[in-house]
Amino acid sequence: MSKLSFNHLLEANQIKESDIKKLITLAEKFRKQGYKKTFLDADCSGLILATLFFEPSTRTRFSFESAMLRLGGKVIALEQGESSSVKKGESLSDTGRVMSNYADIIAIRHDKANSAAEFAKYATVPVINAGDGANQHPTQSLVDIYTIFCEKKKLNNLKIGILGDLKYSRTVHSLLELMSHYSGNQFTLISHPSLALDAKKKKAFEKNGCKIVENSNLESAIKDLDILYVTRIQQERFTDAKEFEKVKNVFRISKKTLTKAKKDLIIMHPLPRINEIDEEVDHLPCAKYFAQANYGIYIRMALLTLMTKN
Ligand code: CP
Repeated sequence: MSKLSFNHLLEANQIKESDIKKLITLAEKFRKQGYKKTFLDADCSGLILATLFFEPSTRTRFSFESAMLRLGGKVIALEQGESSSVKKGESLSDTGRVMSNYADIIAIRHDKANSAAEFAKYATVPVINAGDGANQHPTQSLVDIYTIFCEKKKLNNLKIGILGDLKYSRTVHSLLELMSHYSGNQFTLISHPSLALDAKKKKAFEKNGCKIVENSNLESAIKDLDILYVTRIQQERFTDAKEFEKVKNVFRISKKTLTKAKKDLIIMHPLPRINEIDEEVDHLPCAKYFAQANYGIYIRMALLTLMTKN
């Protein structure tokens, strides 16, 4: 399988349809084999992944680390940035330059928008943006698109509701970028007005071909949906705690919310979930958010394999 069209993965708009095809094909191979087996033709043995997470993470960090270990590679990790010289004032671009000596591929998460791009400026090994502030989370959108592929068997002509924090949720921004490659999809944005998608971003997505409607009434919006993508209200991005208090409990998915939904609706969530989906929903066939976290391992295995291919 040939390489991907990018060296560093910093923004979802770098990912072409042909890249998605290659990644899904390889992820499907891993999924069908079962990840506990050895992958001779996708071997990362001898390679080192560095995970530099300056913000908390469970899924992204550990699925990347698990993916590299399952591919026969090794992992070096930085905990919360506290133990790196960034804490002493070293720039991210200098850190990227230096870390390139110690690892073959690097995944970085940081609270500042465009931090991964700054880090990658002088890096000589591939850099993956594992989330930069409220900006982008391109590998989550690969997890999301792969989940849609596995659960819906197609990536076009879908009605997708996106609920919650559309202002700060980087996963929403990256998902809209990626899904705009595929025709016939319609997005219904459901949020409190103060957490609506930024008007400039919305215009740009529409220019890319995304059909977007806004509907703050979940009950009426849910009827037509094939997919409901739920997001957490990103408390850590609020500068005013009172503003967070106003919006933190506006939407909550329960069994009752789903009474008017289509039989084959699926519910996705990048996780972590706080209180936006009742636990009673977890046992319904429509709940796919834990499966989604599992799909993440295969797509990240595919990404590490293809990004380290010479
Ligand atoms: N979806 C996601 O990014 O989860 P983590 O913050 O746990 O990595």
